[in-house]
Formats: sequence, C-alpha cells, structure tokens
Amino acid sequence: MSEQNMKKKIIFSGIQPTGNITIGNYFGALKNWVNLNEDYQCLFCVVDMHSITVRQEPAKLRKHARELLALYIAAGLDPEKNIIYYQSHVPQHAELAWILNCYTYMGELNRMTQFKDKKAKNEKNLNAGLYTYPILMAADILLYQTNLVPIGHDQKQHLELARDIGERFNSRYSPTFAIPEPYIGKIGARIASLQEPTKKMSKSDENPNAVIGLLDDPKVIRNKIRKAVTDSEALIAYDPENKPGVSNLLEIYGICTGESMDNVVEHFNGMGYGILKEEVAEALIEEISPIQERYKEILSNKAYLDNIIKKNAETARYLATKTLRKVKRKIGFPE
Ligand code: AQP
Repeated sequence: MSEQNMKKKIIFSGIQPTGNITIGNYFGALKNWVNLNEDYQCLFCVVDMHSITVRQEPAKLRKHARELLALYIAAGLDPEKNIIYYQSHVPQHAELAWILNCYTYMGELNRMTQFKDKKAKNEKNLNAGLYTYPILMAADILLYQTNLVPIGHDQKQHLELARDIGERFNSRYSPTFAIPEPYIGKIGARIASLQEPTKKMSKSDENPNAVIGLLDDPKVIRNKIRKAVTDSEALIAYDPENKPGVSNLLEIYGICTGESMDNVVEHFNGMGYGILKEEVAEALIEEISPIQERYKEILSNKAYLDNIIKKNAETARYLATKTLRKVKRKIGFPE
C-alpha cells in the first residue's frame, strides 16, 4: 500500500453472498462505494462468514461469493485502489471476534433488534452465530482501524455496539482501536420489494418477482416491473406512506436518471402506471447493462480474478495482523 493511502481515513464495508445481488444492494451500498477510494483507504469485503448464520448450500455459497467479488469490480471498484477480498481468507476476523466476545455483554446483544427479527425468521436454526453476529461485525470494523462505515439504517445499532466495544477495550488497556463513525452516502436509497413495497427488497426473498437482480436480463426486468404492485388510484405521486409501490418505482427512476424527485414527478405528470413502469424498466436497464457487460468479462478471466483475490487478501491480512498483534500483546497473550 502506498504512503499516501496509509494516511487516508479508512472505510470498511461488506455485503453477504447470501443470494443474487439485488438492485437494492447496488443502489443502497455498492454504487455509493465507487470512487470513495479517491479520499479514503477502502476495504470492501465479501462477508461470507456472516452469511453462514443462515444455512447456505456449499456450492451456491462459493458461486455467490465469487460472483459478488466480480460484481464489486464490475460496478466500478478498482481492485488496485480498493482492498477487495473474502472475509474467510483473513482468519484474523474470526480471531478478533473471539477476543471481542469476551468484551461484550449478553445484555448488549439482547438489545439488538435485528436479532429479534432474525430469531423469528430462523426458529429452526437458532444458532449462536445469529446472536453473536454483531461481534463479528465489530471485529470486521475494528480490525482495520476503520474510521468510517457506510451502513444502512438497519445496521446503525450494530455500529453503535462496535463503537462501545472498541471504547471499552481502549479504556481497559490503552488506545488500540480507532472508533468508527457511520458514513452517510450521497445516494443512500432504500429500494423496496416490488411485491410488498412496505418491505425492503432482499436477496433472500422467496418470491422472485419481488426482487430485481443486478444481473437479471432486460426481458426479466421488464417483466418484473410490469408485475410490480402499485395501487388503484391511477395517479403518479411521490408518497411513500400511502403509495409505497409507485413511490418505489419513482425512486428507482430518479436514481437511474440522476433527476431530483420533483423533476421525476413532473416528468410523469398525467401519465398512467403502464408508461411509468415501461420508463422505469428502460432507465434501469440502461444503468445496469454496462455493469453486466463488465461482469461477464471479469468472470470469464479466471486468472485475472484469482490473482486479485490472492493479492488483496494478502494486503488485508497484513493490515489485520498489525491490529491483532497489538490486541494480543495488551491482553497478555504470550509472545
Ligand atoms: N433494499 C435495499 N435498499 C437499499 N440498500 C439495501 N441493502 C440491502 N438491501 C437494500 C444494503 O446492502 C448492503 C448489504 O447488505 P447485506 O448483504 O449485508 O445484508 P442485508 O442488508 O440483509 O441485505 P439483503 O439483500 O436483505 O440480504 P439478506 O436477504 O441475505 O438478508 C447493506 O449496506 C444494506 O444496507
């Protein structure tokens, strides 16, 4: 890593390879990460260790992880300027997570609202990993002396916990971890399910019509948008509370065209839902087609991708080891 990069503030974020990446993951996360490397030293992880808190089919997990890494690059994250890697290739994440387990109180974990949701969804596989997930997330972040974490609203509580654990460790010993702050992206969109627009679009949704994959082909995209739930009012207006389906489509259109919501609403003034859906689909296809093209090229070049995976994991391990060595020394582990 260059001298210049060492001085930049550090950003860490990741996505789980739990399915096909959706346009929600793209507009809510990935797209916001592109070009951050100009001002920050960025680590973007494929958080495969987090994803096994829910049962994954081994072959699919491996495939999704590689696809996600290739998508990071296809979406515009330059692997020479960002550290792009698999979490499981850097065992220091798990090592620090264990240590931080011993500096986290059960009362804190009991308060995590996401665990309460996950508990309800995973009654048959209520494993301890679901419960301690926020500690692994704290380790991911603290391991790299991260200053800023781009996160969605649903991860705010976990980041707070990472800060608390970091501060607790620092005050018990001496300053060891940087204390991370949330990074609010410029776009920060929340894309809703096409079938239940009051819920967010999720890659693990069982209804394929609810979700648009970043790699879906144009025909599929047109079809899914045509089937998107709207309302019976036949009036195009932005009103997320009362018209969540239409508002979601307007948001997608706005992000793809770069237009403000006022301009988007003005553009569709007096039109019907049929035209709205057609135009949203075309705008979306135009936005994501170049990514799909690049993705195909990247994935077909096995040697190129393998080399990136290897080199970037080495850099991540180097940085992670620096923090972990400090942590172990402070705790009193034998040298
Ligand atoms: N619908 C969404 N709109 C905007 N942002 C979204 N993100 C996810 N869905 C939307 C953002 O994507 C990043 C990666 O999330 P993750 O894979 O770690 O887990 P998640 O948030 O649970 O994403 P999914 O797609 O809903 O996955 P599953 O179905 O496995 O739970 C995060 O920054 C998130 O905010």
